[in-house]
Amino acid sequence: MSICTRLLLLCRPGFEKECAGEIIDAANAAGFPAYIQTNDNSGYVLLIGTSEQDTSELFKLLQFGDLIFTRQWFSVLPKLDNLPEKNRIDPLMTAIKKLKTSFHDSHFNYADTNEGKSLSRFCKQFKPHLLTALKKQQLLSAHASQRLHILFLDSQNAYVGTAPVENSASNPMGIPRLRMPSSAPSRSTLKLEEAIHWFVPDEQQYFKAGMSAVDLGAAPGGWTWQLTKRGLLVSAIDNGPMDEDLMRDGMVEHYRTDAFKFMPDKPVDWLVCDMVERPHLVTQLIIGWFKRKQCKNAIFNLKLPMKKRLKTVQECKALIEQELANSNVSCTIRMKQLYHDREEITACILTAKL
Ligand SMILES: C[S@@+](CC[C@H](N)C(=O)[O-])C[C@H]1O[C@@H](n2cnc3c(N)ncnc32)[C@H](O)[C@@H]1O
Repeated sequence: MSICTRLLLLCRPGFEKECAGEIIDAANAAGFPAYIQTNDNSGYVLLIGTSEQDTSELFKLLQFGDLIFTRQWFSVLPKLDNLPEKNRIDPLMTAIKKLKTSFHDSHFNYADTNEGKSLSRFCKQFKPHLLTALKKQQLLSAHASQRLHILFLDSQNAYVGTAPVENSASNPMGIPRLRMPSSAPSRSTLKLEEAIHWFVPDEQQYFKAGMSAVDLGAAPGGWTWQLTKRGLLVSAIDNGPMDEDLMRDGMVEHYRTDAFKFMPDKPVDWLVCDMVERPHLVTQLIIGWFKRKQCKNAIFNLKLPMKKRLKTVQECKALIEQELANSNVSCTIRMKQLYHDREEITACILTAKL
């Protein structure tokens, strides 16, 4: 492959510093000195190797799933400027051929900004033309391990690059298309649905009818709805009112009490928590449940402070890892700023298969 000296990472606009800080730390720790180019609220970050190294090397050194603030990543050639309106295909194809590989498929990307989103129609209309050109040049193959990525900054400026299918987001731009269920009590329901898709490797194993769950800060019940939909019996903890329809099917017990004081009668399969609270407090609360063996798995949100957001997340993750290791709790801990997360990230702790 041609040398791609830049790695392009997509993130939630406003979180470029966190995305940049995280990838620089990871690249340096893997022995890949690099620096960052980014603009606030642009929705993407460029990592550039200091000694003209090929950033595709990073796909062998790092796991996409370990990055919390990155939605998608791909290594790119230098930016293509001034693509001619009447013939964008030729310069794009010349660049694509420089990648010297064939592709399993292609993703057209744009930043998750107002300016970026205005390119959605253009990308949709342009994609078939490029696919035709790729097919003609026999650059598409079901057996290929790489995915072609094009990021349009506007209709004339674009980055062309590639990433391994197996070590990058499968959804275009890392954004899952989830439909808001009409009977769910709140839009927050999509956060838990996305979290389950992202974190839980074998949903059927981890969510079985008749399992038990506690939902801390449950009202009006969007997260509880996701759990009951999967057949779980839920203790919903909140002083606020739960959705009446959700309470009708008898799968939910509502406790009007403080989530920091609630104790279950017996251990539960799942603990979920979506309270607007300080992240370190929520972290300690969740650690307590695992230490006392009151839950087997957990999904929870950490609302981020205005400043030192990456540091806060790293501290909370380290605390969970340390405390659970000290208590001999064998588990996997993963965190991600999901598409449906705003000023927050979602964490998941899974112990051995149930
Ligand atoms: C963001 S909302 C939860 C939304 C819910 N996950 C859903 O999908 O509908 C946060 C909830 O946490 C509750 N909450 C905050 N602090 C709490 C506490 N200490 N004990 C119990 N509930 C609490 C609030 O009353 C609020 O209903």
